[in-house]
Amino acid sequence: MITHVTYLRDAADFVAPGLDARNEPRYRISEIRRADPLAADPLLAVLPAMNRDADVPALTVALRTLLPLPAVVARWNVVEALAAMRDLGMFLGSLKRHGTEPLTVVPEAGPVLEALGRRTDMVPRDTVHHYTTWNPIGARQRMFTGEEMEGNLQDAVRMVFPSLAASLDTCAALARLEPHDPGFAVALDRTAQHVQSMVDSIDFTVANVSPVFFAQVLRPYFEEVDVAGHAFLGPAAAQVPLWLVDLTLWQCDHNSPEYDAFLAESVRYSLPSWRDFHAAHRVGTSAVSRLAAATDWAAADRLSPQLAASAVSLARVLRILKTFRARHIGIARKAYSEDVRLYEVGSGGAPIELLRSVLDLTRDNETLVRRATARPRTPVASHA
Ligand code: HEM
Repeated sequence: MITHVTYLRDAADFVAPGLDARNEPRYRISEIRRADPLAADPLLAVLPAMNRDADVPALTVALRTLLPLPAVVARWNVVEALAAMRDLGMFLGSLKRHGTEPLTVVPEAGPVLEALGRRTDMVPRDTVHHYTTWNPIGARQRMFTGEEMEGNLQDAVRMVFPSLAASLDTCAALARLEPHDPGFAVALDRTAQHVQSMVDSIDFTVANVSPVFFAQVLRPYFEEVDVAGHAFLGPAAAQVPLWLVDLTLWQCDHNSPEYDAFLAESVRYSLPSWRDFHAAHRVGTSAVSRLAAATDWAAADRLSPQLAASAVSLARVLRILKTFRARHIGIARKAYSEDVRLYEVGSGGAPIELLRSVLDLTRDNETLVRRATARPRTPVASHA
């Protein structure tokens, strides 16, 4: 019998045909997972035991032993460099969890991390993508604790990477279209299918990861680490770039100091093409504003079926985003409640209040779009 969990495990294995075929090494997920350029498999297999024993000397020696020579890094392609960063990152987070700033005890790791950051065109430490999507499955899975719930959280994040990558195309298409264009609703309906994976992911998380385990066992491994004079955040789920979808839907022309600040910090942890997407779409007129303008104009007359369809599709995506955020804030509140938490702020550097304000913004936008279509109007043919 295929259980919900088995289904999700299979979905996590699924590396999205289509993504692999693109000319983007960061989407060659199976290859990155297979790669072991530092021959780190044996050391990573015993990492949970080192962490259980808080064995800082062993962690320090392991990190030092794995460091590649600069000439070797220079020969690597992006796939190998990503895999190397993934594996070194596991030791960075582990040392920090036990109270040791990794580059204080292994300073020679600094230039290696910087070289890997340059080679991959990403930050000079591991990100949530290294820890989840690019992490092997099965016996070679890299884990801090080896606990089943850690694997479940990794799987939950793995599930959303292909969909978010795909949403880039549908959101870019949306940005080029006007609400009276039939393609507007089509782009939104495709985006809705992608964003649904966030709801599936958080449902899976709520069912399979306890807030206490996250707060007290896992969260300490996601602390920030100093590299080249800057603090870089750990590979936590808060870096999952849901903002890719917010941006063109409603965010690019809606000011919100909290979310804007969080976004400004988060963007640098994403892939180069996603950062380009952010740069290209950070200013402009959002889908919500374009629809509001079109329906205001139409209010003087009557709402065309096409405009009505666009509004329904836009409201649907916003509702899915809202559902994810409402369920997500539930588990986040439990993990950061006073009697459970070890840290006041999330591993993405922001407090729980951020989640409240982003949820409110999502809900406000959904309400706006629903109101735009709720006024009684007589539909007319779209060519009228
Ligand atoms: C035990 C599970 C989880 C907890 C306790 C948790 C907690 C948090 C907290 C406190 C934040 C605020 C920012 C920060 O961390 O600094 C955050 C942000 C975020 N988290 Fe989680 N999270 C969990 C699981 C997940 C999962 C599984 C996903 C997605 C696959 C996810 C996606 C996000 C996103 C996208 C944000 C940015 C804010 C937003 O877009 O609404 N989280 N999370």
